[in-house]
Amino acid sequence: MRIPLIAPSVLASDFANLQQEVEMLNRSEADWIHIDIMDGRFVPNISFGLPVTEAIRRHAHKPLDVHLMIEEPERYVDDFFEAGASHITVHYEACQHLHRNIQQIKALDCKAGVALNPHTPVELLEDVIQDLDIILIMSVNPGFGGQKFIENTYKKIEQARELIADSGSSALIEVDGGVNLDNSRRLIECGADVLVAGSFVFKSDDPQGTILSLKSV
Ligand code: DX5
Ligand code: ZN
Repeated sequence: MRIPLIAPSVLASDFANLQQEVEMLNRSEADWIHIDIMDGRFVPNISFGLPVTEAIRRHAHKPLDVHLMIEEPERYVDDFFEAGASHITVHYEACQHLHRNIQQIKALDCKAGVALNPHTPVELLEDVIQDLDIILIMSVNPGFGGQKFIENTYKKIEQARELIADSGSSALIEVDGGVNLDNSRRLIECGADVLVAGSFVFKSDDPQGTILSLKSV
């Protein structure tokens, strides 16, 4: 069984103790730190923005995996890179000019990702797959942590795996939303490389142990 990368989402962390939460992630087996940016427009919720991302960066020893759930992401890509993003993922549904948006991210020293909502077919990435470092498959509708995993995700991961193989791309497949020990094994079997987990990690009694258990399935 392949060992997945684990990207805990700080959306589910204790914001009043963010430094301790980030230090806990530094000590853990987490590979990336997932940062969910929500604008109250593309998604119905507002999370946090640049100053909080910068504050996380000051304490984090792991790459910041920034997931932009915002309209017109091109207006903020440079700023999130300056704030410490190592990866920037934009939503397919938020980009009129996706190819240009991906090039904008790649022109920085930054990995480029595209996220797909549950209703968006994987095949729509066919003409940009060569340029992608990350395909982020949403396994819930974006906007909130703690939602129920959507089963159709397994099929989409297999389709993404095929698209990557056919194109010779080296993109990683990241899965985001409702990930826990009930679905992690099958997600990896289907071809997921990176598991994002928010509530399952931060609401557990032993977040570091939970991260390790996700990595060890
Ligand atoms: C949802 C976010 C996810 C979310 C995952 O819009 O993109 O990253 O924080 O949280 P859980 O693991 O609680 O579903
Ligand atoms: Zn996310």
